[in-house]
Amino acid sequence: MGKVSALACIVAAIMSGSGENGSAPAQKEVPDGWTVIEEGMARVIYDESEKVFYNKVQVMNRDTSIQCIKAYIEVLKEERRNNSVKMKGKLQRRRAHLLKELSERRKGGDAPAGTEAADEIAAFEKRLAKCDADIGENADGNFPGIRVLEALSATGLRSIRYAQEIPEIKTILANDILPKAYQSIARNIEFNNLDPKRVIASNADAAALMFNSRKPEDQFDVIDLDPYGAPTLFLDAAVQVRKTSFHANKHHLPGNVQGCLS
Ligand SMILES: C[S@@+](CC[C@H](N)C(=O)[O-])C[C@H]1O[C@@H](n2cnc3c(N)ncnc32)[C@H](O)[C@@H]1O
Repeated sequence: MGKVSALACIVAAIMSGSGENGSAPAQKEVPDGWTVIEEGMARVIYDESEKVFYNKVQVMNRDTSIQCIKAYIEVLKEERRNNSVKMKGKLQRRRAHLLKELSERRKGGDAPAGTEAADEIAAFEKRLAKCDADIGENADGNFPGIRVLEALSATGLRSIRYAQEIPEIKTILANDILPKAYQSIARNIEFNNLDPKRVIASNADAAALMFNSRKPEDQFDVIDLDPYGAPTLFLDAAVQVRKTSFHANKHHLPGNVQGCLS
């Protein structure tokens, strides 16, 4: 079984995990005849007759993936902090320029007269206010969280572990092509008291799902491919839906910052 996580880099493991809201969830009752699998911070229920894939031997693989994602999040946070410092400098220079222009317009200078001048001043004031807001918003490099895709999820165990053990995950899509696997994922999300808007069950062909997620807002920070055999079938789709780092170019900046600098 191949396993590729689309992570930009792998460094040392850093943080320890915590539950979705910091407290132990109330445990749900296990239906008669079902097996409970406990791994990391996840508990999933499993009925062998459903024939949904589960491999106990892969626990170390799942542990390692969690540590890789945590390390990658640290890299993203560092990038974001550095980017914020640069962005703040740019915004402050822009603000100084706007202030100067505004003061010249107010003095009369070469500005057009009458309504046109008043409109120009109002436009400058608006841009200045936006710059001030953007400086405030980008001052501390607030981390927005990451979006993860587990494209071949089976019982949902891996996604549930990711969600429970990596608080920086904003959303995770747990997908499988088999309807029985999809039902298992949805059931286990509920069994673990996870928010179904954060941990989302999906029933689609992984390649089709990825090809249909190419819009920038639909892309993922981390894509987990854990197929039977080699992952090559899914690689071309996966590379198209992996977000680049936050500061890769201007188009990956938050819209508000783009607006102020344009
Ligand atoms: C090795 S298992 C995944 C195990 C899981 N990631 C884990 O850690 O427990 C592979 C899964 O891929 C699913 N699968 C196979 N082809 C698929 C496709 N084209 N799209 C989505 N899922 C697929 C299978 O139904 C199976 O549940």
